Amino acid sequence: MARFAGKVFLISGGARGLGAAQARQLVAQGAKVVVGDLLEDAGQALAAELGPAAVFQRLDVTEATQWRAAVEAAERLGPLNGLVNNAGIFLPAPILEVDTAMFERHWRVNELGTFLGMQAVVPAFVRTGGGSIVNISSSAGIRGVPNAIHYSANKFAVRGMTKAAAIELADRNIRVNSVHPGMVDTDLLKIRPAELNLAFAQTQPIKRLATPDEIAGPVLFLLSDESRYMTGAEVAVDGGRTL
Ligand SMILES: NC(=O)c1ccc[n+]([C@@H]2O[C@H](COP(=O)([O-])OP(=O)(O)OC[C@H]3O[C@@H](n4cnc5c(N)ncnc54)[C@H](O)[C@@H]3O)[C@@H](O)[C@H]2O)c1
Repeated sequence: MARFAGKVFLISGGARGLGAAQARQLVAQGAKVVVGDLLEDAGQALAAELGPAAVFQRLDVTEATQWRAAVEAAERLGPLNGLVNNAGIFLPAPILEVDTAMFERHWRVNELGTFLGMQAVVPAFVRTGGGSIVNISSSAGIRGVPNAIHYSANKFAVRGMTKAAAIELADRNIRVNSVHPGMVDTDLLKIRPAELNLAFAQTQPIKRLATPDEIAGPVLFLLSDESRYMTGAEVAVDGGRTL
């Protein structure tokens, strides 16, 4: 029997990058998936590629009402088993160039969006009898990095919210863990020249960028029953970057 047969998952920011890799792996292993994203064309194309097991739902993670609609879309597929709070933005800038608007934009998507996602799925998980939340943080949520104070702020917050929620939700059979990718080859990093990303990777033990599939594997582990004794954990998937 497939590992995730009959299970239903919701992935925010699932239209491309890390989220799309998670959706592909989940469907390949028997799951049904709602891909939530702002990017309608990419999201629809992914859902078409994955067939009837996948549905695209337009989702702006900063809007609680849109989260409610995404959870409803997931429950039309069956009882909801897991959420990946994966949507995120990263626009690097030095401290003196981070204005209030840029700080707030990162806060709204990366931090508020993650909070609203957790809040939205709890009633659905109670109906299911439990569930697993995986919050995508970053190596920048474990240690400080330059030109990313506004991003680090939210990614540290995601790590903290994960632990607070893990304690509060354990008695409802809901587990909450965070995953901390290092540098992954996606559109997010195209804001910097490829040579610069490679140069950063050369400073870590595994001297290359990750592929999205290399992050999806640990995410699926945390969504699965194989990790049933794990909650509140922070899982670095970073080639040793934060050692
Ligand atoms: N790529 C990396 O090196 C890296 C490293 C550490 C952490 N991360 C984290 O991994 C996650 C996925 O990043 P990625 O590399 O796949 O980037 P990506 O830019 O390829 O994908 C991010 C997705 O999030 C979506 N999104 C952005 N704002 C949204 C909103 N308000 N509502 C809904 N969706 C929204 C985008 O449309 C996009 O599809 C992010 O949280 C990011 O911070 C990435």
